[in-house]
Amino acid sequence: MNGADASPVDRADRVIPGACFGYTRIPDEDAFVASHGRGSRIFTTAETELVDYTLGSGPLLVGHAHPRVTRAIAEQAAKGTHFYAMNEPAISLAELIVESVPRVEAVKFCADGSQATFFAMRLARAATGRETVMKFAGAYHGHHDYALPSFPGVPEDRGAVGADSLGIPAGATEKIVVAGFNDLVSAQDMARAHRGDLAAIIVEPVQRSLPPAPGFLQGLRELADETGALLIFDEVVTGFRLSRGGAQERYGVHADLVALGKAVGGGTAVGAVAASRELIEYLVPGSPGASQRSFMSGTLNGNPLGAAAGLALLRELDEARGREAIAAHVAEVSAGLRDLAQSKSIALDLVGPDVFFDVVFAPREPVVDLASYLSSDRAASTRFGAEMLHRGIYVVPGAKFYVSSAHTSADAERFLAAADAALDVVASVHDVAQ
Ligand SMILES: Cc1ncc(COP(=O)(O)O)c(C=O)c1O
Repeated sequence: MNGADASPVDRADRVIPGACFGYTRIPDEDAFVASHGRGSRIFTTAETELVDYTLGSGPLLVGHAHPRVTRAIAEQAAKGTHFYAMNEPAISLAELIVESVPRVEAVKFCADGSQATFFAMRLARAATGRETVMKFAGAYHGHHDYALPSFPGVPEDRGAVGADSLGIPAGATEKIVVAGFNDLVSAQDMARAHRGDLAAIIVEPVQRSLPPAPGFLQGLRELADETGALLIFDEVVTGFRLSRGGAQERYGVHADLVALGKAVGGGTAVGAVAASRELIEYLVPGSPGASQRSFMSGTLNGNPLGAAAGLALLRELDEARGREAIAAHVAEVSAGLRDLAQSKSIALDLVGPDVFFDVVFAPREPVVDLASYLSSDRAASTRFGAEMLHRGIYVVPGAKFYVSSAHTSADAERFLAAADAALDVVASVHDVAQ
């Protein structure tokens, strides 16, 4: 077949091997090429319509092609797509972040969530004069060399390559130490063992889909204060999603540095590091106050298109009470899924806060941390996702389900109809009986 006759997926595979952009890959039989999106739906070049529970890996909190977001992008595009100069949308987005996120006084933009955690770690090292960073097993902070140790929790999860990725120099990971999420004692032991050199504790306040145990985040706050380390909340997922002020507001614990991404770019390439003015000033070339500079740069930092999109999304989310709609949809599909599993005597649980979720099968104990999460049948979860995808529900098999304010009860019905059949397949090939 020549290039012109090949299917779009085959065309992609020739020049974008795997026909995928990152470490998640759709099974070949359900691989598709997106044509356009509207609200909760993605339409493919093969003219199928999928209900989207992936949402661009999370950013699209108000759904695809929301008129307010597309209008903002179009209006900005007509004025210029990029300046590499201070601009109005970037200032307004920074103001909105400062107004919304507790204790944050200043912001520096970058181009995605990985850059945000990368710069937050560098800044923490600069400000403390120390090098070691503590993270938690199974956490994801992006693709860079300092973020990957101990991700994913188990190498065969989704067939993903993380900590065992080729190409990461040993020197990059020497100063990353790993404790157990929701295990304050392990965090205390690890932090105290490194107290003289601990620059930062970085945590996903909701690790993947695991909510923090009562007192865990507060315990980390105290541990950071005790050891002189800075506490970094990776709010790339939780920022503006759990609440306007993110996980800090939801759980009443403040961080020293906040890494933002996903929602703040409204579906375009934006990340941000947010903190006190004193800390952010380490990133300002030649500014008074900070005794030492820390390097930060990026061609697309402060891109006005991205800032306009992020602003439009975040304003819409607030003004249209989007978070409430998202939580209501999550409640609707969760209840339906639990009922279905119950009626089929399948041991299924949902893990997550009220605005996104992961589906686990037959855990050997209540799922509260990585060990109990991994005691569940991950292969069954991946199969469930694959079967859902096969039935027109776009989820990356094994990954979490994201919901937008555009999801409707009709979507919930489609979700549950697909789940009804998907659960039967899962139960026929995996030992997930109650
Ligand atoms: C918690 C968390 N941190 C950081 C990142 C990296 O963000 P990005 O993919 O925008 O680089 C992700 C991406 O999924 C994430 O979930």
